[in-house]
Amino acid sequence: MIQDTAREQPVPVGGGTELFHVIDPRVFERRLLDELCDLTTRVRTIAKSNAGARFLQDLLPNCRAMFFFTQPSTRTFLSFNNACHVLGIRTNEIRDPSTSSEVKGESFEDSIRTFSSYVDVIIMRTREPGRAAQAARLMDTIARPVPVINAGSGSDQHPTQALLDIYTLDRSFSERGGIDGKVIGMMGDLKRGRTVRSLCYLMKNYPDVRLVFIAPEQFAMQNDVKGHLKEYGIPFTETEQLGKVLPELDALYVTRMQSEWDNAGESRAVDFKRFSVGTKELGLLKPDGIIMHPLPRGPELDPAVDTDPRAMYWRQERNGMWMRAAVLLKIFRLESRIRYLDLEAFAAQDGDNPLVS
Ligand code: CP
Repeated sequence: MIQDTAREQPVPVGGGTELFHVIDPRVFERRLLDELCDLTTRVRTIAKSNAGARFLQDLLPNCRAMFFFTQPSTRTFLSFNNACHVLGIRTNEIRDPSTSSEVKGESFEDSIRTFSSYVDVIIMRTREPGRAAQAARLMDTIARPVPVINAGSGSDQHPTQALLDIYTLDRSFSERGGIDGKVIGMMGDLKRGRTVRSLCYLMKNYPDVRLVFIAPEQFAMQNDVKGHLKEYGIPFTETEQLGKVLPELDALYVTRMQSEWDNAGESRAVDFKRFSVGTKELGLLKPDGIIMHPLPRGPELDPAVDTDPRAMYWRQERNGMWMRAAVLLKIFRLESRIRYLDLEAFAAQDGDNPLVS
């Protein structure tokens, strides 16, 4: 399935658990999410041995990827780039739009079509919403379509971030029945934060989850997401009082103010004493609760939290590389090469890969 535009309903273009374009989180169903989580763990485990790392590198040696990132990124760019390298995929990039022939007047469609002449997958992040969906629609009309992966479009969607967040939640709760039935808080700029918006869209797959939105009124979760939650019967509450709800949370997903979307510095009006996590707030969190953050962070997350075992955000960003490798394997239909492997056999061959843990 692909999405028609960033805030419209997704349009079905396929079924089952196959992946081609990755545009909108709403198309992901439980079976596919579970499969991707399992594949992610397998890729991580295989990469731990030298023989396994070589095996992974040989999976896609003739594949080329285009990174079209005209909006800033550290983690998404680096984790996709290194996921490609783990799988032997060669990479190309345009990050500075002034180096693209678009400045000579080439249309967006012609630029995307040109990328597709040289590569096998396009991974893109743009400031404008709906661009990845537009690129995917174009690919569906040409003779040599290549998959398009949305690595962040405007303030709307960030589907692969949502996938790595699901993986992080799933692993964190592996001894506690998984994500089902958990209480998940989301705090910060919920209005313009595409990570929380995308994560909300995946929650329909996890029975009995309850969401708690913690945000200043002017940055509250938007009605399109709340309407989706109501449609799927996912309970949620809204509050401005973190201290009151923190003890009931299994996970608190903190986000920064998305000040790049400000019109007149409105992010600066936020009182971070009320909407931040430090050591005092950790005292209210369950002993087995977790703190997540998509990063980069601002004043909403005190670095003093980093050493607490419940701080999951550094693992979360590393999980991004493994999950994105799993997504690429799924797109190129190589998951069966991984699924039936004897994972222990690699380590027995010639020892651990000292670079991977
Ligand atoms: N989480 C995330 O999207 O980070 P970057 O903006 O650094 O890619």
